[in-house]
Amino acid sequence: MTETFQLNRQQAQAYDDLFVPALFGQWAPQLVDCARVREGQSVLDVACGTGVVARAARDVVEAGRVVGVDLNPAMLEVALAARPDLEWVQGDAEDLPFADAEFDVALCQSALFFFAHPGRALSEMARVIVPGGVVALQTYAPLAEQPAYGPFVELVARHAGPEARDLLGTYWSQGDVHGLRALTSAAGLSLLELRSSLGVAVFPSAAAVADTELRATPIAEQITPENYSRIVADTEDLLGGYADESGAVRLPMRATFVAAFKR
Ligand SMILES: C[S@@+](CC[C@H](N)C(=O)[O-])C[C@H]1O[C@@H](n2cnc3c(N)ncnc32)[C@H](O)[C@@H]1O
Repeated sequence: MTETFQLNRQQAQAYDDLFVPALFGQWAPQLVDCARVREGQSVLDVACGTGVVARAARDVVEAGRVVGVDLNPAMLEVALAARPDLEWVQGDAEDLPFADAEFDVALCQSALFFFAHPGRALSEMARVIVPGGVVALQTYAPLAEQPAYGPFVELVARHAGPEARDLLGTYWSQGDVHGLRALTSAAGLSLLELRSSLGVAVFPSAAAVADTELRATPIAEQITPENYSRIVADTEDLLGGYADESGAVRLPMRATFVAAFKR
């Protein structure tokens, strides 16, 4: 596995308190809708993190079974504390600890790009759903289709070198629709829907965008303090226009959804 998003308990709580409202929360109802989840169904949320998709699925299935599975115990602790009424299981998306055909629907949000073998995870999701069941994924469109992040990554690459494109590239690496079609069909799934949705990522300021992104990667440690300050200043110029009256910046962010059913 490459970067897998492994956080401790405090970071997992911060993820749920800050990043779920600022970014991840908005996609969950769209993913549930794209998968056509219905009342009474059993739903698996793969790489569930703190469980935002499982919670959204629960609102629809009501009494149906909802299970979240994630590699990271700290994420699962936060999920359990928030929603003890749902099932939380530690496990690897590439080797799911569930029987064949145990669920009607398998969902996966903002995680495909962390898996070493996305195709294996897709096959596992297909294995654990019933024939006629649905697998649905949410990921992000490639950088070329990202109106704010595309220019931001180019800005960082100008200052920090071209390898910054790879270091900042994880989130955009699985959003190509041809690649997603090929992944689902290789897992024996038939396409139901491909959906593109323009959402928003909220940060306290443009400087916070640069700070968050640089510190989430080794770039912050590789560059000089002067270079770091130049990136922050240029980011304020580049993204300052997205600020609202409070100074918070609201960056457009394009997500891709794919839903497919098991033949
Ligand atoms: C960006 S978070 C997304 C969490 C959640 N789906 C959401 O939308 O808030 C990525 C999650 O993928 C999990 N993850 C990464 N690799 C995994 C794997 N191989 N199996 C299961 N979970 C994995 C991480 O632990 C983390 O919780």
